[in-house]
Amino acid sequence: MKYLAYLNKYLIKYKWYLIAGTIFTIISNLFGIIPAQVVRHALDLVKENIDIYFMYTGTETKKQMYALFATSVSIFGMVILIMAILKGIFLFLVRQTLIVMSRHIEYDLKNEIYAHYQTLPLSFYRKNATGDLMARISEDVGKVRMYIGPSIMYLLNMVTLVVLILTYMFSVNGRLTWWVLVPMPVLSVSIFFVSSIVNKRSTEIQRSLSRLSTYVQEAFSGIRVLKAFAREKNSIERFEVESNIYRDKQLDLTKVDALFFPLIMFLIGLSTVICVYVGGQEIIAGSLTAGNITEFIMYVYMLTWPLTALGWTTSQIQQAAASQKRINEFLEVKNDIVSAENLKPEIRGEISFKHVNFVYPDSGIKAIQDFNLEVPAGQSVAILGTTGSGKSTLANLLLRMYDTTSGELQIDGKNIKSYNVQYLRSQTGYVPQDVFLFSDSVANNIQFGNEGTPMEKIIQAAKDADLLENIEGFENGFETLIGERGVTLSGGQKQRLSIARAIVREPKILILDDCLSAVDTNTENQILNNLQRIMKNRTSVIISHRVSSAKLADKIVVLDEGRIIEEGTHDMLMNAKGAYFELFEKQLSLEEA
Ligand SMILES: Nc1ncnc2c1ncn2[C@@H]1O[C@H](COP(=O)(O)OP(=O)(O)OP(=O)(O)O)[C@@H](O)[C@H]1O
Ligand SMILES: [Mg+2]
Repeated sequence: MKYLAYLNKYLIKYKWYLIAGTIFTIISNLFGIIPAQVVRHALDLVKENIDIYFMYTGTETKKQMYALFATSVSIFGMVILIMAILKGIFLFLVRQTLIVMSRHIEYDLKNEIYAHYQTLPLSFYRKNATGDLMARISEDVGKVRMYIGPSIMYLLNMVTLVVLILTYMFSVNGRLTWWVLVPMPVLSVSIFFVSSIVNKRSTEIQRSLSRLSTYVQEAFSGIRVLKAFAREKNSIERFEVESNIYRDKQLDLTKVDALFFPLIMFLIGLSTVICVYVGGQEIIAGSLTAGNITEFIMYVYMLTWPLTALGWTTSQIQQAAASQKRINEFLEVKNDIVSAENLKPEIRGEISFKHVNFVYPDSGIKAIQDFNLEVPAGQSVAILGTTGSGKSTLANLLLRMYDTTSGELQIDGKNIKSYNVQYLRSQTGYVPQDVFLFSDSVANNIQFGNEGTPMEKIIQAAKDADLLENIEGFENGFETLIGERGVTLSGGQKQRLSIARAIVREPKILILDDCLSAVDTNTENQILNNLQRIMKNRTSVIISHRVSSAKLADKIVVLDEGRIIEEGTHDMLMNAKGAYFELFEKQLSLEEA
């Protein structure tokens, strides 16, 4: 229960729904109980007067008595009908308050979790699988809602009904009440056990289903590889295995489910039998009427449902607690990439790394070691290196996706930590190594994060990224949808769109992470030339495998295993005849070939 206490703030926020819901529950239950008493009156009336009625056989009075009987019974009937309608109306109001409250809370909680997710750093997303993030915001919130809504509703209903009915029953006849209640705890406890089993099996089914859908999803997204490797048959077989497991688990559940109703029916039957037997003794003793027995049997039926719900509710609450625990785990994660000073000054773009070391916290890999670099504002630096040498890691540090393990990274002579994180990133144009485009129009993908950019600027950015011709070739131009239900772009087109996105915001610092790898050398030169014009008075960091991308930069740094092994201008490094020179020769001969 301590995990669910987190939700109290929402219950307080929506307290009027809760209070109104409680009042409506009490009223609707009162209207549920009164008919049973009406039935008793009706029955007793008929039973007491039926003998007198027959005594008048053959006289005019009999007819009059019949009319009297008929009217009173129909009045009783009317009363019962009206009560049922009123009960129905209040039941509707109960649902309109309590269930509506649960929907509001579900909505608030989802928003809270999503907003919290957005504040968390990249490292959080590395540690937790996307499926898990999704499950906590959808399924777990759904389970929690079952507690807030139906569970609270049934509990309230049960408490009011039990209090009302038992007080009344005990006031009529204590002995009979005790006897009738004997099977009830058994009912509740057994329902609790059955529901627990049902829950456990449902969870397994859920898990099996999620495995099945993950498998199917992967098979569809990887369909090109799957077909190319002629794995269709194998894929079908694996699907069959997974769906067999799923079916068996479903059948297991059905078995337990099938036990549910017979069990309830048996225990109600038992209560009824006891009621008739013990009640019969009381009638003989003269302390009860036949109407009382009927009334009691009606109460037994009325109590059954809330007590059945008790078992169900208990297990729902247990599940909700487990879900809330999982949600709290994520809500407690705090973003460690924050700024104490939150500075938002005009940024010039001077970058300096001072003895920076960086170890990835989750893998322990030493990605950057004793790294020193000064880039004056407005200049360009190229970072060259073999795969895994730490180039993208430098980009991560510059965007403050991670903080340095030791040493200092400064922008304009101030520690990067003193800048407001969002502001710093808004001043940076970043082209990531793995391009990501949203299922949206070309124009929206370019102006991403800078909504409302004038069309001329978008067109200019597309032109500078050497993409304009491609876009104009599309039927809908800049309004062409890309992604899942739109046009599929080629690898090089995607990279260039990603470049356009970075330059359209006119950043103070531009970081290109290997973003020209999928374009040919001519296009590469074209884009680099355009960039030189755009990046005048702005700082650019060009990360690449290829010497051709690097040679125009004011400074070139060659990385190996997180360390700088060479640095200087293109000419200096060519003369030094070191690693850069070797790379240059190798790539030149490759190109010629
Ligand atoms: N998120 C991460 N968590 C843990 N280790 C990482 C992470 N990203 C990279 N690494 C490790 O850090 C080292 C440097 O990786 P990085 O991505 O910076 O290389 P790179 O120079 O960009 O390589 P490439 O040219 O292939 O893109 C590698 O050994 C890699 O395994
Ligand atoms: Mg990389």
